[in-house]
Amino acid sequence: MRKPVIIANWKMNKSINESISYAKRFKKLVKKNKNIDIIICPSFLSIEPLYTKLKKTQIKIGAQNIFHEKKGAFTGEISPLMLKHCSYVILGHSERRAYFNETNPLINKKIKFALESNLKPVLCIGETLKEKKQKKTKSVLRKQLTECLKSINKNQIKKIVIAYEPIWAISKGNPSHKSDNPADAEEIHLFIRNELKKKYKKLSDKIRIIYGGSVNKNNMDDFMVFDNIDGALVGGASLNPTSFSNIVNLI
Ligand code: PGA
Repeated sequence: MRKPVIIANWKMNKSINESISYAKRFKKLVKKNKNIDIIICPSFLSIEPLYTKLKKTQIKIGAQNIFHEKKGAFTGEISPLMLKHCSYVILGHSERRAYFNETNPLINKKIKFALESNLKPVLCIGETLKEKKQKKTKSVLRKQLTECLKSINKNQIKKIVIAYEPIWAISKGNPSHKSDNPADAEEIHLFIRNELKKKYKKLSDKIRIIYGGSVNKNNMDDFMVFDNIDGALVGGASLNPTSFSNIVNLI
């Protein structure tokens, strides 16, 4: 019913040359499969060369961030207009929230601007370990969804992928870090879908909700058996073409 989507989040890793070598290897390793969306989000510098290497394949390119203006005096920022070859953009990642003070209202602005610019947003939400221990997971997620999706209409929500990434499960580059228990993740995904249902009614069944946090080839299958887990956002384990192709080829 929903097309699975697997997204590589390279974070601040790989030079242009390293990205090109990866693309050459990855496209040979990954099986052709029309029933899945595969997206790689490299650094801004590697977007163009990766696009050139992968444009004849099914693999799409995404960005890891954008600024919410077309152009102007915004030192160090990147406008969606400069990202012609990207189809998706990751927004609201917990690292951007933590290190760059991105707030839900700012993420909401970026989502709207991404959509206007023909980029499909991948909205990341998730709780900290402290919030989990305090049993605040659901209230934190509800607030993130409400504020990040403020005035997003039914036509727009169809283009958004929601990534549930419990912050305590993110590997920080170490692919053997412990992920969430897949059954617990499914419970949260169902909660997210029910929250979306309140606003978007039946359409909520069409919205893809993916899991992120220490996904690797050994645990991917355990997540994908669940009805409300529609794919994965993969950090550490996406940095190696073999390990990422192993994940993608499981679908
Ligand atoms: P991880 O990262 O797979 O290395 O845990 C996921 C993410 O932060 O998007």
